[in-house]
Amino acid sequence: MQALQVLMNEHRTVESVLDSLCMFTQATVENGTDQRDTLARFVELLRMFDELHHMKEEDILFDRMLQNGFPRDNGPLAVMLTDHTTCREVVAALAALADRTEVWTDENRRVLNETATQYTLLLKSHIAKEDNVLYPMSERFLPPSQWTELDRCFDEFEKKWAGDGKLVDFRERVDELRQAWPAEDGPTPAGGCGF
Ligand SMILES: [Fe+2]
Ligand SMILES: [Fe+2]
Repeated sequence: MQALQVLMNEHRTVESVLDSLCMFTQATVENGTDQRDTLARFVELLRMFDELHHMKEEDILFDRMLQNGFPRDNGPLAVMLTDHTTCREVVAALAALADRTEVWTDENRRVLNETATQYTLLLKSHIAKEDNVLYPMSERFLPPSQWTELDRCFDEFEKKWAGDGKLVDFRERVDELRQAWPAEDGPTPAGGCGF
């Protein structure tokens, strides 16, 4: 079940990006700065993660579970799909802040803090549900032959991303933002982005 390990490795990567997003948000609010360009970089990266990871879940793993009779309209898959939709809506709210034509006001920074915190809490809780509930459930639900096929589909997906240069681009963007906004132990998100 190499596919699940790939997904969990991607979880660890995005968790560290979320910690950097919180460090960035904290510094921006504390210093009263206007950082639309940097927020745009975070938004681009989070959208790449959505494409790399959430679409791999939806189009390959979840799809395989549905084809094998797992319920779609209630239960864990319904919750995961709703979380993905909410994640996209919250990233759109961050994008709206990044796209503003005027310099950020204190109100914009307040919204940044609120929205970045919402996104961080949402995605970290979503990841915990997948790591601890959905993925173990999928391991028990799908027979071994399905996992061989899933691993092959994941390999194909990764090869396409690698061939397009998107995998390298994604990793470089992760490194760029983690280095610019390091969070060695990671802020505790329970109270928001460091607040
Ligand atoms: Fe997910
Ligand atoms: Fe996930």
